[in-house]
Amino acid sequence: MVEKEIEKKLIEKAFEMKEKAYCPYSKYHVGAGLLTKSGKIVGGMNIENSSYGACVCAERCAVFKAVSEGDKEFTAIAICGGLEGTEPKGSETDYAFPCGICRQVLREFTKPKDFKVYVCSTKEKYSVFTLEELLPHSFGPEHVLA
Ligand code: THU
Repeated sequence: MVEKEIEKKLIEKAFEMKEKAYCPYSKYHVGAGLLTKSGKIVGGMNIENSSYGACVCAERCAVFKAVSEGDKEFTAIAICGGLEGTEPKGSETDYAFPCGICRQVLREFTKPKDFKVYVCSTKEKYSVFTLEELLPHSFGPEHVLA
């Protein structure tokens, strides 16, 4: 259960981070706000590279920042994204869903049934899913750790 006030801050962080995206190639700006179990909000944005395979998504940027600072358990993430110079057009593409690799990376540090993913079109218009819904029947640490 994420409190309304925290939910708002998380979504605001995603939109704040979207402004910082480094995406000169795709021009698709993504921002993320990740809530740690300890109550911190960690931001991330996509960082592209002229060697395209070296690009990193906003969600993984946030996760890696948090893990590198000692947080390894997360309860929610808010994500927003859009092509430079465009406004939401009232379709599914207004919502920046996490890519498959990011879903798997989130899986590593979350309880899929409890972890909430806020996919935002605007600060007021968003949908909420659990990670379990976005990545059913997933593979995780408990499969390989004794
Ligand atoms: N991107 C993200 O940051 N998160 C996702 O989950 C999907 C895609 C970024 C990667 C790339 O910089 C741009 O969006 C276009 O694919």
